[in-house]
Amino acid sequence: MKADIGVTGLAVMGANLARNFARHGYTVALHNRSRARTDALVAEHGEDGTFIPTETLAELVESLATPRRVLLMVQAGRPVDDVIDQLVPLLEAGDIVIDAGNSHYEDTRRREAALAAKDLHFVGIGVSGGEEGALNGPAIMPGGPRESYEALGPLLEDISAKYEGDPCCAWIGTDGAGHFVKMVHNGIEYADMQVIGEAYDLLRSVGGVEPAEQAVIFEQWNRTELRSYLIEITADVLSQVDVATGQPMVDVIVDEAGQKGTGRWTAISGLDLGAPVAAIAESVFARSLSSQTAARSTAREVLGAGADDVSAPQELQDRDHEAFVEDVRLALYASKLVSYAQGLDMLSAAAAQYGWSLDLGTIASLWRNGCIIRADLLDTIMKAYGGRDTSRHPEPGTLAEGQPLNLLFAPEFSQALAAAVPAWRRVVAAAVSAGVPVPVFSSALAYYDGLRRDRLPAALTQGLRDYFGAHTYRRVDREGTFHTLWSGDRSEISA
Ligand code: 6PG
Repeated sequence: MKADIGVTGLAVMGANLARNFARHGYTVALHNRSRARTDALVAEHGEDGTFIPTETLAELVESLATPRRVLLMVQAGRPVDDVIDQLVPLLEAGDIVIDAGNSHYEDTRRREAALAAKDLHFVGIGVSGGEEGALNGPAIMPGGPRESYEALGPLLEDISAKYEGDPCCAWIGTDGAGHFVKMVHNGIEYADMQVIGEAYDLLRSVGGVEPAEQAVIFEQWNRTELRSYLIEITADVLSQVDVATGQPMVDVIVDEAGQKGTGRWTAISGLDLGAPVAAIAESVFARSLSSQTAARSTAREVLGAGADDVSAPQELQDRDHEAFVEDVRLALYASKLVSYAQGLDMLSAAAAQYGWSLDLGTIASLWRNGCIIRADLLDTIMKAYGGRDTSRHPEPGTLAEGQPLNLLFAPEFSQALAAAVPAWRRVVAAAVSAGVPVPVFSSALAYYDGLRRDRLPAALTQGLRDYFGAHTYRRVDREGTFHTLWSGDRSEISA
């Protein structure tokens, strides 16, 4: 008996994916650097299906039906290259190596090219949903050569989460496209969590709403257009009381946010691509600031404590409690929409840069279930991009017919934003007056305002650049490129 797929790297994510395949009737060959993990998996979860434990990568490869499908779930970076180096001599043309970790898409592009030269398929897949998702149905974002999807896609679709019957898995695009889309998913995940955090901070610091009460508010919000996994678990976390101290759990957790790097990568790629993912970048920086423990402690001494000593502005105090809570909800929703718009816009920029044919409707459809950012909103976003159509492959860097140039231009979202704007401005103004930092609420609002502003001060920037560096400018009234002789007679010349 040959196995349908091999999994190497049996820490919890790899083990859970292996079990998920087995539960779907696939025979799964198992390998881990130390044999103990393989044995433990078979001993504890052998009843999930048919496993073939193996000792070495050679044995793993030997146990597989062709074309061989070997899934790596090892730490991103050097360890992935090490396993690939060991695997490649053991494989034959047409075999498929799958990297299911959070690898950087540039690494995936490099590996795909190297393996293609050896007639092997290398497929980077983004997997979202944490440990639970890996076992019960993650969202899966596969890249790599289109042909590889024929042999691999059905297995991945089987184990993926489903949304109204649709698998949360579809081929995304060539080489690193899957990992790129997963990276942007994570960038949006950062922004989603940051806007939740900003809402929590405002409700507490300005509105005086304690965590237990906030849990009820987030539960209510989870019955509005904000309905999502992250809002749902926010209610859970806020209702938790620490057994040791009797304090709200959120008060005993150190307020320094960690990060493994995917949010940072999204911000860096946004800068590289000229895609203004400011809300995502701000959420990365907010985590960085939170972790500057020494600077924060000194700042409290030298600069004085922040929000605590500033009372909420009169306008806010005059608003009744429920109206304030609703304002915060609308500001959260509007800021969230902006971060999704920025992330999707960045996907278009990447598609143009890397020659990927990305369909934003299908990509949004994959995020409707299984992944961390799963939300009702994603179904609406999918519909705004013409729904899910896995056969729609727009020219790289272009949108399919009828898709909006920016998510915010889709009528349902432009209307939702227009309705939220008064509340959004009140909330940002209140936060600024009260000294409560809201980097994503305010940055998202600046993006919204910047995008639709008639004249931007970029004209002045161009004038300054031309003044000190003869960088030239274009004119509003005629074609061409111009330079003013600033240090001469100030006449204008064609440049
Ligand atoms: C997912 C998560 C997953 C992981 C992130 C968290 O989609 O399942 O995004 O990939 O939880 O690595 O990232 P940080 O540690 O950077 O917050």
